[in-house]
Amino acid sequence: MANNTTMLNRKSHWPNDVGIIAMEVYFPAQYVDQRDLEVSDGVSTGKYTIGLGQSKMGFCTDREDINSLCLTVVQRLMERNQLSYNTIGRLEVGTETIIDKSKSVKTVLMQLFKKSGNSDLEGVDTLNACFGGTSALFNSINWIESSSWDGRYAMVVTGDIAVYAKGNARPTGGGGALAMLIGENAPLIFERGHRGIHMEHVYDFFKPNLESEYPVVDGKLSVQCYLGALDKCYKCYSDKVKKSCLKEAISLDHFDFMCFHTPYCKLVQKSVARLIFNDFLQDLNPDTNDGSRYAGLSEYRGVNLEDTFHNKDIEKACMKCSKEQFETKTKSSLLIANNVGNMYTPSLYGGLASVLASTSLADLVNKRIGLFSYGSGLAAAMFSIKVTSDASDGSKLYTLKTSLDDLQDRLNNRTCVSAEEFTTLMDHRERTHHLCNYTPEGSINDLCPGTYYLSQVDHMHRRQYQRKPLVDFEQIPSPLNDEAILASPPAKKPVRNHIKNAMLETDNQIAIK
Ligand code: ACO
Repeated sequence: MANNTTMLNRKSHWPNDVGIIAMEVYFPAQYVDQRDLEVSDGVSTGKYTIGLGQSKMGFCTDREDINSLCLTVVQRLMERNQLSYNTIGRLEVGTETIIDKSKSVKTVLMQLFKKSGNSDLEGVDTLNACFGGTSALFNSINWIESSSWDGRYAMVVTGDIAVYAKGNARPTGGGGALAMLIGENAPLIFERGHRGIHMEHVYDFFKPNLESEYPVVDGKLSVQCYLGALDKCYKCYSDKVKKSCLKEAISLDHFDFMCFHTPYCKLVQKSVARLIFNDFLQDLNPDTNDGSRYAGLSEYRGVNLEDTFHNKDIEKACMKCSKEQFETKTKSSLLIANNVGNMYTPSLYGGLASVLASTSLADLVNKRIGLFSYGSGLAAAMFSIKVTSDASDGSKLYTLKTSLDDLQDRLNNRTCVSAEEFTTLMDHRERTHHLCNYTPEGSINDLCPGTYYLSQVDHMHRRQYQRKPLVDFEQIPSPLNDEAILASPPAKKPVRNHIKNAMLETDNQIAIK
């Protein structure tokens, strides 16, 4: 934990165990059921729910934009962990939801820091489709491991509103924000140098119409690019690990959990299958005694990986063969994605949060989590996290994990909106997006306590925000609370705000511009 004294001694040693110390997830308070969407869109039953593997899709009304999402998630992370805004030395936002071509979301977030007097914060916004959050994360890790580090935390904020025009891409929308506190001696430690990268120029998904929130998307090409980048990153990651650890070879066995950027859950299941196919073609961990490891794949020995993207027989055989690996290593990562949809930049980290929320502490300790990040255009990376061995009560891992234990309840407590109402709200959003002299019309009542929302856009496009107050306080101490770095230590017991089922009051709002 950083404080003023230790900050002075930082440069004398390489920081230990740099990684994620705390996480906060925010998703919209309303969703549409994918079964309802299937009926309303007139597609065959099961296309979205089985074909894409999606249950529910979160969405934002005109009350929320990228600034409000990020304000909400940053403020909640700070509150839940009882942190002073002075403890943050770097703040970087990864997003592809652009509402201003010059002013960054990061500068909007600086309003939250104003009272603390802390304006000494490196970092701005980072953009490349769903990859911006990963790039922001790498920048933050690099900052902590550099001569520029001043001993304070870095905060990485990922956020997006993923909306598509009417048509076959629309059910793969979603939205949300996720903030991560990065520092040394972390419970989720990034493995140094274990990063496989692949970057390339393609037009698979892009946003050339700056007046629209909708992307131009070549859906089939984007899926091929995603799987191709996965192949490339897996090889690159494996080569780097082999070189640095002098290991023989890396297979899927290297990872206890595997999280992926999740445009829709079925693609993730296909991704696990793709990794198994890579292992098979590399002849890694040849068949187990009963010959079941690559059961059903032998006839595909020697095929060229790049020729197989559209081969449904291979895909089917690999899905069958990798079923158990998917169930044990990846399925738990799909909790948020299945219920919220594609959040774009936060998607991968929502997968990580889902694993933490769905797994017992005993099953997390000392485990290795692989992560695959993909952003169209394209930029992709595979990297890994090692979970700490200390899961004792009050440890950092314990605090991080328990802070996410309410995820399922929070998902359950959202409001379900009919497909018709969803379409009406989307049409309204489409018409009013980017208007000035505009007062949003979306309901405030359904927003969760503690949510920032857009209250007004003035004649110069300047945006004003208010916050629904937090209520229903619960006394929960936070071990991240370090009195040495708190601007004003809590008077009595520290409190953690509990937002579930809270009563709503709208007359005590905090205005932010
Ligand atoms: N029951 C069960 N399965 C069904 C049914 C049914 N009734 N109907 C169709 N399906 C299956 C299809 O067989 C198909 O399965 P497959 O992918 O295993 O072949 C699946 O459902 C999807 O059906 P398609 O007809 O292929 O879907 P469509 O072409 O209409 O759209 C797509 C899918 C391309 C993903 C579209 O939603 C899209 O463009 N989304 C946005 C782009 C995207 O998310 N790309 C991913 C990477 S980039 C990123 O993250 C933004």
